[in-house]
Amino acid sequence: MGAVEHCMKLRKHFPLIRDSDQIYLDSAATTQKPVQVLDAVRDYYNAHNANVHRAAHALSEDATNRFENARNAVAGFINAGSSSEIIWTRGTTEAINLVANSYAGSHLKAGDEILITHMEHHSNIVPWQLIAQRTGAIIKAVKVHKNASLDMDDFYRKLGKRTKLVALVHISNATGIINPVEEVIAAAHRTGAVVLLDGAQAVAHQAVDVQALDCDFYAFSGHKMYAPTGIGVLYAKSALLENMPPWQGGGEMIESVSIEKSSYNILPYKFEAGTPNIGGAIGISAAIDFLQQHDRSAIADHEQQLLKLCTSGLKQIEGVHVIGDVENKTSIVSFVMDGLHPQDIGTLLDQQGIAVRTGHHCAQPLMHKLGLPGTVRASMALYNSRAEIENLIEATQKVRSFA
Ligand code: ALA
Repeated sequence: MGAVEHCMKLRKHFPLIRDSDQIYLDSAATTQKPVQVLDAVRDYYNAHNANVHRAAHALSEDATNRFENARNAVAGFINAGSSSEIIWTRGTTEAINLVANSYAGSHLKAGDEILITHMEHHSNIVPWQLIAQRTGAIIKAVKVHKNASLDMDDFYRKLGKRTKLVALVHISNATGIINPVEEVIAAAHRTGAVVLLDGAQAVAHQAVDVQALDCDFYAFSGHKMYAPTGIGVLYAKSALLENMPPWQGGGEMIESVSIEKSSYNILPYKFEAGTPNIGGAIGISAAIDFLQQHDRSAIADHEQQLLKLCTSGLKQIEGVHVIGDVENKTSIVSFVMDGLHPQDIGTLLDQQGIAVRTGHHCAQPLMHKLGLPGTVRASMALYNSRAEIENLIEATQKVRSFA
């Protein structure tokens, strides 16, 4: 079966879009959910719901097993060395905040440098600003080229002996550009810095192997990989986690508590205060099963075909400019149009039944660098069809007549 037929069969698994005329091109914001994930979450609450790691009863043991099996599934999905390196969070944002507060908060001192880039999502900027204010660390940002790709010469200029932590996005949510993260990690390690990758846009579209990457921290969200909202993951090397203090305090993360002091639980629980999102973990595990039961390279081929069709079709419209039109990309196309604000283009596309995101995409420094008020972003996933992309191109041509 070809990549296209394969993905069109997969579309039938997504109730919200399978029988709808709505064209959903906002999967970088959140993906739709397959029946398999919805059923797994419902089944968990219907038949297995109990709190985990706490009670002596069988239902709790069952819930705990399912919850820990989900952690094992995540470890396998990204090839972590051990499931104790998988910390559940609410999403990518909370995972980055955990690293900023715990690792950076305890390891950085005044004058140390945190190296980020101009293409980061706000969630990979603001946590570092907050911790820099507390520690006296300095934030430096790698520039981007005019085509929105990372300026690696500037990276090497800014990476130095003072750099203690490099935090960058694996795949830009605003443009879809895939960063040369292997090169960044190897260079950062040579200077003794640790590296955090924001993998929110990567995990649904390509296989991620944290050991092959040799990244120190990898953060991602369930809801951008066909799982529910409110669940995410921080992967971190255990040697780092062992030397990081807890971030949030509460139940579950402790070994013993007295009024004067507490001792902490083993990994990964030291970083999981409070009752976790058990249903979310079951959901992410089901999403992993869904992805792994299908041919991921056929899915990636299909998404690349959509990307090419969308990019070339939009570029042919006079006055339309694709932002970040480079070779190494995932299925996100950001564009602007002469004479019309992105917000108005989004509204006019919505009136034609096409859902896209408009604005700065939580990446204001990138928009500022590129001199743009924002863009229109069409982001595609495995369930989108060529016909939908042809529709987007036709609808954008109509919008052009308003400019
Ligand atoms: N970070 C998400 C996006 O890019 C919300 O749309």
